[in-house]
Amino acid sequence: MSNGSFMSLARGLALAAGLLGISNIQPTSAQAASSFDLSEVRLTESRWMDNQDRTTAYLLFIDPDRLLYNFRANHGLDTQGAQPNGGWDAPDFPFRTHAQGHFLTAWAHCYAVLKNDECADRATYFAAELAKCQANNEAVGFSAGYLSGFPESEIQKVEDRTLNNGNVPYYAIHKTMAGLLDVWRHIGDETARDVLLEMATWVDTRTGRLSEAQMQEMLQTEYGGMNDILAQIYQETDDERWLTAAARFDHARVLDPLAEGRDELNGLHANTQAQKLVGVIHQYQASGSQRYLDIAQNAWDAIVDAHSYAIGGNSQAEHFHEPNAIAEYLDEDTCETCNTYNMLKLTRELWANDPSTARYFDYYERALLNHLLGVQHPGSEHGHITYFTSLNPGGHRGVGPAWGGGTYSTDYDSFWCCQATSLETNTKLMDSIYWHEGDEVLYVNLYIPSQLTWTAKDVTITQNTSMPETDTAIISVEGSGAFTLRLRIPEWTTTDASIVINDEGNSSVTAEPGTYASIEREWQSGDKVTVTLPMTLRTIPANDDPNVAALAYGPAVLSANYGDGSLAGLPQIDVDSVSRVGDSGLDFEATADGQSVQLEAFYNSHDYNYNVYWRLS
Ligand SMILES: *[C@@H]1O[C@H](CO)[C@@H](O)[C@H](O)[C@H]1NC(C)=O
Ligand SMILES: *[C@@H]1O[C@H](CO)[C@@H](O)[C@H](O)[C@H]1NC(C)=O
Repeated sequence: MSNGSFMSLARGLALAAGLLGISNIQPTSAQAASSFDLSEVRLTESRWMDNQDRTTAYLLFIDPDRLLYNFRANHGLDTQGAQPNGGWDAPDFPFRTHAQGHFLTAWAHCYAVLKNDECADRATYFAAELAKCQANNEAVGFSAGYLSGFPESEIQKVEDRTLNNGNVPYYAIHKTMAGLLDVWRHIGDETARDVLLEMATWVDTRTGRLSEAQMQEMLQTEYGGMNDILAQIYQETDDERWLTAAARFDHARVLDPLAEGRDELNGLHANTQAQKLVGVIHQYQASGSQRYLDIAQNAWDAIVDAHSYAIGGNSQAEHFHEPNAIAEYLDEDTCETCNTYNMLKLTRELWANDPSTARYFDYYERALLNHLLGVQHPGSEHGHITYFTSLNPGGHRGVGPAWGGGTYSTDYDSFWCCQATSLETNTKLMDSIYWHEGDEVLYVNLYIPSQLTWTAKDVTITQNTSMPETDTAIISVEGSGAFTLRLRIPEWTTTDASIVINDEGNSSVTAEPGTYASIEREWQSGDKVTVTLPMTLRTIPANDDPNVAALAYGPAVLSANYGDGSLAGLPQIDVDSVSRVGDSGLDFEATADGQSVQLEAFYNSHDYNYNVYWRLS
């Protein structure tokens, strides 16, 4: 940030542009590639769909009136006999009501993808009840537009720097706003829009009167993605007021070094920064400012290359450490779920801006498959999750924060941030499989069983695959038309990757690992493309110790089942001893510390002590 006053930043986009070193702001929504509407893509039968089904069951089970309890109580309305919740939504928990926005988003996803009217009814009921809370502000002494489960005095305190109860008020408020945006966007609910815009007006008014110094001080307290939601409201409304308000949430201490490509993440709370970065990429899209793109790109490079574990997660005890410190921090509290949820949001936007680069989706696949898919317990009817994903020797899933009971989440007594973001993750598993450039190019970025209804071209694409248990995907076309099909050839496959069109034998299409294979064709109903991506056993060394590594087969990180046994340190594995049990599937056996061990896909490792990182012999 330059020396310009933050008050002037508040007053106009032109000034904001000046501060950011941009001479000419041109709103640009012009991403090179676009995702499809959620209503156009659905999962078909698979491990992925099972996750979605369990989360959907929870979305339909939870009592909306219990989720409304703190809002109603805070805004002076009757709580209608509902029981209060426990965990992070208890009536005395500082940032209660942070989770509800994620329910709104997940209900909106559920409606968009599954056409489930009950999900839509729950979302619109909730928005209508929130409108009533907001409408009662005068009676309880809150400013117009304020909406939360805790009093507005918490905002005064965060501004005055006297807040000392652990509350992160803007973090919670961001979540509610993001949920309302999705209910507006996916369900078309105008009440959600009105409540959202009143909240945004309140934020703009409240922050518009702070000095730059006060604002920057306040940003020391985690504020979720306030820059993100305001930039997205700008993208929806074209009203520059919101982009100006978004820029007030540019946290100089964190973003300035990133703009210059300096990794000063060591010691910072990881998810606090990840949320800002999702905002930064939307601010780039909205403003065209190269500086925002530099920040997002440099942060992505640093986090993915120097702060991420083999499974794609980052952070230990929720914090970043020195660059490349991986083997040094193989602990019980690695890989907070929320960080990866946010990193995936950042990744897809960076890729859409630069779709010829395959490494974004190499990371996306790695993190979605090995981290987020496995966070949910496959035996939990309501899709309960673990907060951290432990990577200590003999670790096990189901490690929550100490203050949350340290296990998987529960129906009414957890409401952790990671439980809330996982509601979104598991209702949008399809959102990044297919992409398009106008009606000319179709991308397949992820190998997940699914169906795309490409409405604009009247073409249906079906993807059949059991990857990563086998190495083949069949993409079939119904309907006809000319377009280029681009298939991601992952970096983990071999030069034997091949593409067969309509059983005509190997095509001449180049399928080089770490690139996109392109098939330009006049497609006809019944056309079928078979992609084979040979998998091999590979090691993923820790950046700080080449002698410590995780094992993967193709995209899937493997872990060994140690039952209820404990491990004093990293076992030493004989990599040459690792062999697949059978011709398909992800069951392996190996010798480690002189003992025979069974390995399987890490995403399936629940209810036993496992080992992911090994000392190589
Ligand atoms: C894809 O799977 C569906 C069932 O899930 C099946 O009906 C269809 O025939 C399969 N298509 C191909 C090309 O294997
Ligand atoms: C197709 O190509 C793959 C990889 O180059 C090769 O292993 C396979 O033998 C080829 N198959 C045919 C039928 O040519």
